[in-house]
Amino acid sequence: MTFDLVIRGGTIVTASDVTKADLGVRNGRIAAIAEHISEGNMVIDAGGRLVLPGGIDAHCHLDQPQAPGLAAKGAKMADGFRSGSISAAFGGTTTIVPFCVQHRGESLTAAVADYHRRAEGQSVTDYAFHLIVSDPTPAVLGQELPALIRRGHTSLKVYMTYDAMQLSDRQILDVFETARQEKAVMLIHAENHEIIGWLADRLECQGRTKPVAHATSRPLPVEREATHRAVTLAEIAGVPLVIVHVSGGEPLEEIRRARARGHVVIAETCPQYLLLTESDLEMPGMLGAKAMCSPPPRDREAQAALWRGIEDGTIEIFNSDHAPYCFDTDGKLKAGPNPSFRAVANGIPGLETRLPILFSEGVVKGRIDLPRFVALTATNNAKLYGLHPRKGTIAVGADADLAVWNPEKRMTITNDILHHNVDYTPFEGMEVQGWPETVVSRGQVIVQDNKLIGKPGRGRFLAQDSSSAWKTREISAWI
Ligand code: URP
Ligand code: ZN
Ligand code: ZN
Repeated sequence: MTFDLVIRGGTIVTASDVTKADLGVRNGRIAAIAEHISEGNMVIDAGGRLVLPGGIDAHCHLDQPQAPGLAAKGAKMADGFRSGSISAAFGGTTTIVPFCVQHRGESLTAAVADYHRRAEGQSVTDYAFHLIVSDPTPAVLGQELPALIRRGHTSLKVYMTYDAMQLSDRQILDVFETARQEKAVMLIHAENHEIIGWLADRLECQGRTKPVAHATSRPLPVEREATHRAVTLAEIAGVPLVIVHVSGGEPLEEIRRARARGHVVIAETCPQYLLLTESDLEMPGMLGAKAMCSPPPRDREAQAALWRGIEDGTIEIFNSDHAPYCFDTDGKLKAGPNPSFRAVANGIPGLETRLPILFSEGVVKGRIDLPRFVALTATNNAKLYGLHPRKGTIAVGADADLAVWNPEKRMTITNDILHHNVDYTPFEGMEVQGWPETVVSRGQVIVQDNKLIGKPGRGRFLAQDSSSAWKTREISAWI
């Protein structure tokens, strides 16, 4: 029988294998992988190319309504589902998992309905939502969360910092308890809020208000302490925990220790922590705001520690933490042209550059092999967030979400080649090797030769199954 699409002559890479084979797609799914497939209504010649599972970016912020009390009051995200998913697709990513945020005083169910409206008719890739819990009221914990988890939102995030979103340890335990009962996986932003506030007050008093003071107010021990506390809380409540955006060796050591005790803790890092350092925040004037994210980029030693974590398997997922604020008065500099670092919106863009950066710095430089690249950028996210085996792999029956990748193509990253709506990239001028040429989602070509083919709105919402973190083994709680 003829296939709808045949990808011929490529090298297929999964998290476990590298195989030269043809691939046949029917009805949006992978229907055959064989030495030779002849009949296809459409044929893509992948000779000399890698055929990768489309990337899954499971940490990105799109069209996220701002919390009323946030420091960078009114800063607006430049990307919603349309431009965010287009940018992701051009970078070889075919599934995105942004965050639906509940603000204090709001119903989580209403926040989810609102986020569905924001996504409706916009996305070119498939998408799921993590839920951010900022107000764990008895109704949220007892009724809303269990119902939403059963509707396919099986990953929940909490914050230990940011005035508008931070939860107390007790509140975190409450959310963890519900997650345990409903078999959801927890994500946490781990930084010690009290220390940050104390240091930031002192820096401001000394007149140190430039972007680099953002890094001074959030040194590595701030993250180390919070990571230690977060894994302890998860251990007490008995839930698997993802520590997002790990920035250096000290928090990673806390994660290693927890894993050695047998606890299920998963570490994520992001391109900015491998490539940027605190010196990027020292650019003249306010330019350093372009590299301001939390935790902040550190130093070469932290970067080396993260690479060791990637190499030894402690870091299992690699996501962008795309937080799309323009460097203008709607975005980072909403509080004025020369604000204190405390009033600058946190976060940097990176949906489109995530895969090329890890390929170039990891695979081309010999730090990781191809299967590990696929595991970090797609398969592990799919398993962890309940999307596998439909997403994140190349196997008969899986969705035909693929990136036909040119491993030799050299590119210089500049903002004008990217498709997000942000007016800068922190990776401006960086040389990379490896770029996607054709990107396929559920058997449809969505990007080809730097042209958008897929229509915004074709992307579908994905209800998540339970996380693999719950399936690997029994997790015990202290009560
Ligand atoms: O600075 C960051 N990381 N901004 C995005 C929000 C978050 O904390 O993940
Ligand atoms: Zn965060
Ligand atoms: Zn984030």
